[in-house]
Amino acid sequence: MSKPVIRACGVTRNLTLGEHVVPALRGVDMQIFAQEMVGIIGPSGSGKSTLLGIIGGLDSPSAGTIEIDGEDISALSESQLTDIRNQKIGFVFQFFNLIPTLTALENVALPIEFAQVRRYKPNSRARELLEMLGMGDRLHHRPNELSGGQQQRVAIARALANDPPILLADEPTGNLDSQSGEQVLEALAAIRAENGTTIVLVTHDQSLAARMDRVLTLVDGKILHGIAADAPPENGRQPQSD
Ligand SMILES: Nc1ncnc2c1ncn2[C@@H]1O[C@H](COP(=O)(O)OP(=O)(O)OP(=O)(O)O)[C@@H](O)[C@H]1O
Ligand SMILES: [Mg+2]
Repeated sequence: MSKPVIRACGVTRNLTLGEHVVPALRGVDMQIFAQEMVGIIGPSGSGKSTLLGIIGGLDSPSAGTIEIDGEDISALSESQLTDIRNQKIGFVFQFFNLIPTLTALENVALPIEFAQVRRYKPNSRARELLEMLGMGDRLHHRPNELSGGQQQRVAIARALANDPPILLADEPTGNLDSQSGEQVLEALAAIRAENGTTIVLVTHDQSLAARMDRVLTLVDGKILHGIAADAPPENGRQPQSD
């Protein structure tokens, strides 16, 4: 059986707000396998973004371990975490965070130019990714000349610039109408099919979640049906909902 690409064991995260300690995560156990497309749903404040940040090395657990490709990243230094993020993780957020003065092509080429190890020619790689995401006719448009769904597809291309094996998306369609959201979902499915990317997607949208291979539900910082969620799928892509 394949090893999990992402594995959380007893992950807790206490955040401090003034004098209060907020237990944002309270013992999360889960495994995600190569090339799975997994949804994370749950009420507002249930810890979805906190969990995604910990998976992506933007934050560290208060207790418990998080493994990426079998490597425990829960106790790494800031610079070691930066290396993991650069090599393994792509992030997509609800607000696209594109650079307004740069074209679509330039926004995607930028992280390729600044990669620690430059593996691609920036412009040709950026063009290839944007074409794969159906943006080939918008290469030279600036963000304010693009629709929300188009901007999000540029942001996805940028997240994939250096070919990370894992793509983490926090409410990537949260700011989009349903048709644009649909295009973004199709783009993510195409990425997975083309590159074998493992995708973890936080969403409030039940219909979107229903189209993932598997859905994990967070409530009050814990995964519901944790035992089932932790059970590995037989082939890494088996649809299974919790
Ligand atoms: N920087 C912070 N400092 C203190 N508490 C925080 C901080 N960020 C989040 N929290 C708290 O941690 C808990 C989990 O927050 P988180 O953002 O992970 O929830 P979420 O499930 O992503 O919610 P939403 O669906 O609204 O985005 C919440 O109770 C929140 O108030
Ligand atoms: Mg959130």
